[in-house]
Amino acid sequence: MSQSPFLDRSGWTPEPLDLWEPILITKEEIDAEIERLASIARPANGRRQSLIVHPRWNELGVGPGLNPGVRVTLEVLKPGEETAPIRHNSTQINFCIKGSGSTIINGKRIKYGLYDTWNFPSMATYRHINDSNDLHVRFCYSNAPLLEKLNVHIVEDAPQEPPLHVVEEKEEAKAQESIAKIVPLGDEGAFLMPYEVLINPEPVESKILHWPWQGLKGELDKLGGLDKNYRGRRLYMMWNPATGRHNGITPNFFATITIRPAGIVDRPHRHTSAAINYYFQGSGHSVVEKKRYDWKAGDLMLSAPGWGIHNHASHDEPVYELTVQDQPLMIYMESLLWQEDLKKPWRVLGTEAGFETNAEALKRKAS
Ligand SMILES: [Fe+2]
Repeated sequence: MSQSPFLDRSGWTPEPLDLWEPILITKEEIDAEIERLASIARPANGRRQSLIVHPRWNELGVGPGLNPGVRVTLEVLKPGEETAPIRHNSTQINFCIKGSGSTIINGKRIKYGLYDTWNFPSMATYRHINDSNDLHVRFCYSNAPLLEKLNVHIVEDAPQEPPLHVVEEKEEAKAQESIAKIVPLGDEGAFLMPYEVLINPEPVESKILHWPWQGLKGELDKLGGLDKNYRGRRLYMMWNPATGRHNGITPNFFATITIRPAGIVDRPHRHTSAAINYYFQGSGHSVVEKKRYDWKAGDLMLSAPGWGIHNHASHDEPVYELTVQDQPLMIYMESLLWQEDLKKPWRVLGTEAGFETNAEALKRKAS
């Protein structure tokens, strides 16, 4: 008997969320895997890499990933090595955790050092080069699991680099012309869009951008000097203007670097975006869904599964951390519920007014 195409959901009510537990991958585990990747024979495509996965990734048919929507890959290159070109419609963030090197993306060379960050736009052909005398290691954060779930992750190995169709002024004018063809229906803001506009959305160039740690650190350290009573987070988001009001480094992810002076304890909060933290100086702990996790420099952590209640605390020295969240995607989908204070209701960020800190009040008090 063939299976019915109908799944009876009459009277169905949703199950409560079954959050993935936080996991901590220690510096020692990461170092051992780096050593192992450096010791194997060079693979044909030059990519010495391991996915860092959550033990539950296969349960729900998502992933492999560190959380359902984010894949973190540990990538190693020995001196003089380079990877074969590749491109795909997933977008990425690269973060250097050891040594230095270069990446060539669509012909642009990014020369990077320790703790530098850079983004990979969709369908940009790239290769990594270790042009230094030491091992280099990167974390790569990708939204590939999401595209794989949708069964549309397009990956081309060794692509024939056709240049991307770049945005020209003429085309921008054409897009404006198309918008003029949109027809209002009624007077409450509903419109009809003709096919010509549908297949030619306004193009926004997705640039390859590089955030060197040295420049960023100077700005960040100024935030470290903020008043002890400041109730926000001492961080900068590495903003890619192509992501507009969705506040991302890629259309899918934000990436922030935080300075957490010694002895700072965040207020517990939660958000539907999931957070992955990499600590690269200092030590501290997080409390996630009432369970405590201690971490130190060099540890990587799925530190907040989406909607899990959490807060972080630094111990006796300043902490630097890279945080990646799938927040821009959530904002675009109108799915970013954010509860900054657990005694107050959550808000849909990007759709209704967000939250404020006490930064202005402290400034007024100081002057
Ligand atoms: Fe958070």
